[in-house]
Amino acid sequence: MKNNHIFLPVDELPKHWYNILPDLPKPLPPYKEPEKGVSRVELMKKLFTKTSLELEFSKERWISIPDKVRELYIHIGRPRPLYRAKRLEEFLNTPARIYYKREDLAPTGSFKMNSMIPQVYYAYKEGFKRVVAPTGAGQVGSAVAFAAAMFSLDCTIFWVRHACRMKRERASYTRMLNAKVIESPSETTKIGKKYLEENPEHPGSLGTAYAETFEVALNNDDTVAIWGSRMNHVIMHHTIIGLETKKQLEIIDKSPDVVLSCGGTGSNFPGLAYPFIKDYLDGKLGNIKFLVVQTSAAPTLIKGEYRYDFVEPSRTLPLMKMYTLGVETKLPLIRAEGLRSSSSSPTLSLLRHEGIIDAIALDEKEALEAAKIFLQTEGVLVALESAYAVKAAIDEALKAKRENKEKVIVFNVSGNGFFDMEGYREVLKDI
Ligand SMILES: Cc1ncc(COP(=O)(O)O)c(C=O)c1O
Repeated sequence: MKNNHIFLPVDELPKHWYNILPDLPKPLPPYKEPEKGVSRVELMKKLFTKTSLELEFSKERWISIPDKVRELYIHIGRPRPLYRAKRLEEFLNTPARIYYKREDLAPTGSFKMNSMIPQVYYAYKEGFKRVVAPTGAGQVGSAVAFAAAMFSLDCTIFWVRHACRMKRERASYTRMLNAKVIESPSETTKIGKKYLEENPEHPGSLGTAYAETFEVALNNDDTVAIWGSRMNHVIMHHTIIGLETKKQLEIIDKSPDVVLSCGGTGSNFPGLAYPFIKDYLDGKLGNIKFLVVQTSAAPTLIKGEYRYDFVEPSRTLPLMKMYTLGVETKLPLIRAEGLRSSSSSPTLSLLRHEGIIDAIALDEKEALEAAKIFLQTEGVLVALESAYAVKAAIDEALKAKRENKEKVIVFNVSGNGFFDMEGYREVLKDI
């Protein structure tokens, strides 16, 4: 019987991550100090592990994955299967072949583990006692808590308040992993108190959660911050997704025509796409479309400006050149909190600026309706964020049908939706 699932044996788990920095069509504009105030580059040294910062600026193309991290990757089920969406193809009656990578099968429910495990491992190796991280959708928070449990480190998570209340189950799950989960803004930090004085009903934002995380990391020598997205070292860790996918497509002798994934700040899409972008830049892939799927609530790569900006309102990190809607912009509240970011990662922004990647922005309702179709055909309940990728994959498959082309469409199911039902219910109403 024909199997639509493409597995990779454990001994095929990649031994290296891919770093796109040496292959970018132009050098990445350096992180910049603002005109006033303390050196942000020096602050970075106090916030993150030494290893993360070395990787952040590394010019090595291939970064060896530590044995301990590979061991844990295998423990959490890597290599992950690539599925062909045969039932969805039949439903759409399309000649396209749709493949999806199953990052939703991670124990904490999303791709975020790929970077949280190595980052917490570096913290453990460097002798820190505690890790602290901001989280919005909660996927970063759970993954950091999981990794901290694996290395017996203490863990504090500042969770955007409105998102934390919407995701009560995920918050409890994260506490069960032994993390201290604090709704942000909180009374536990000076900056949190300030936000609450200004607005006692403050719904929180990634900005408040970053600010509280930084305050705790800067004031405690035994504590280090863990970073959820955007930075080069985080993206590099996630390339394990695309490296595996490339091997899986090679097994079935297929080459992608479209590689797409949802994008918030921008580590999920790069995780899948950068290994393919390498091949494209090396001239090994011809006519291929790289597509980032954003929310219309935060269409940074479409409506943003490519310029230097701060990453978060507390302005603790250096200025980065990226597509930004403006760090102070108030973004509309949506359920897919993980896509709600005011700016995009520097490398992804550069690739967008060079015309190598496309971007679209979708409304939440159309994305979540697509997730319903995916559940009813493929049987997989995707995370709210991943629903956007599903919708884009369906649209690409329908386009292939109109053009009568057997296109190969590859996308990443970045997370599962078991803890996301409240968001689905609020939008879809009839479930
Ligand atoms: C399930 C899921 N998918 C995608 C994203 C977006 O990831 P990124 O910010 O790396 O683009 C997130 C972010 O939290 C997420 O939780």
